[in-house]
Amino acid sequence: MSTYPVESQIVTEFTWDYADRRPALAKLYEKGKTSQWNATTDIDWSPEVNFGEARPQSSDGPGLEGIIGFAGGESPIGRLDDAGRTQFRWEFQSWMVSQFMHGEQGALVATARLVETVPDLDAKFYAANQAADEARHVEAYARYLNEKLRHSYPISDPLKALLTDIMSESRWDITYLGMQIMVEGLALAAFGLGNVMFQDPIIRQITDYVMRDEARHVAFGVLSLQGLYDDMDSAELADREEFVMDAAQLMRDRFLLDDVWERVGIDVQAGKEFALHNPLMGLFRQMLFSKIVPNLNKLGLLTDRVRPHFEQLGILQLADLPDSTADADEGLSTGTG
Ligand SMILES: [Fe+2]
Ligand SMILES: [Fe+2]
Repeated sequence: MSTYPVESQIVTEFTWDYADRRPALAKLYEKGKTSQWNATTDIDWSPEVNFGEARPQSSDGPGLEGIIGFAGGESPIGRLDDAGRTQFRWEFQSWMVSQFMHGEQGALVATARLVETVPDLDAKFYAANQAADEARHVEAYARYLNEKLRHSYPISDPLKALLTDIMSESRWDITYLGMQIMVEGLALAAFGLGNVMFQDPIIRQITDYVMRDEARHVAFGVLSLQGLYDDMDSAELADREEFVMDAAQLMRDRFLLDDVWERVGIDVQAGKEFALHNPLMGLFRQMLFSKIVPNLNKLGLLTDRVRPHFEQLGILQLADLPDSTADADEGLSTGTG
């Protein structure tokens, strides 16, 4: 068994105030309770998934090719033959789902920590409910990878670094910032894109279910942090700015796809260059950040320091900045059907 210890020093907060409630969080908790599903019985696990088999691209969307740009003179994928492209599609899917699984474990442990560290009862309740969601997400992705794909990837270095940063932190708002706002904000966008790119019905069904839960989780972060940074002193705020900038850098680097290039036999440096400069890959990364940026803006963290850094990373352009309640509403309304 391989484990990976991360040390930190945290303070467990009890509260003796069982009456002072926060209505928005209480409502989210109610929604969480009625939106539980069972990965064993609600997913149709029966279809076979033949890893590596050539398969027509789905006709209901642009598919992987349309999203990350296979073609074009510079593209190392464009130079592969049909068998090579098929292999790339499967490796990409396996890599994405593997990173989802590792990220879900990060969400499980980070959110379990929030149960202990957040000061108020409604946030503890909701975090406990979310932790149950995350256990189910790890369960579903791990079963898919072990039983169906039989092919997985270790955690990527940037994701490992980011989870280490989040779990080394002792301040509870930074746990939320790292997990609910950054990691889960990115996951929400990545799941949506994944379902256009993935090639079999099981992973699409799992991801549909997971995505509904994630909208609530992001709303949990936004509701919990709203207003917190408005009158924080500048030294404390600078810590949050740095955390957010570092996290964004690591998340951007994650999607340069080092591990996938290596697996399909493309020179890693050439693959990374392509990923950095291909316009569709750039658009892909902007889409991945399109939920994060508006939420940071809502929280007052898209500051004069953070914005140019994001611009330089090429992750700002697509993000529109909606009004301050849109995402929380989305989380609250998801899963009513
Ligand atoms: Fe999750
Ligand atoms: Fe989540």
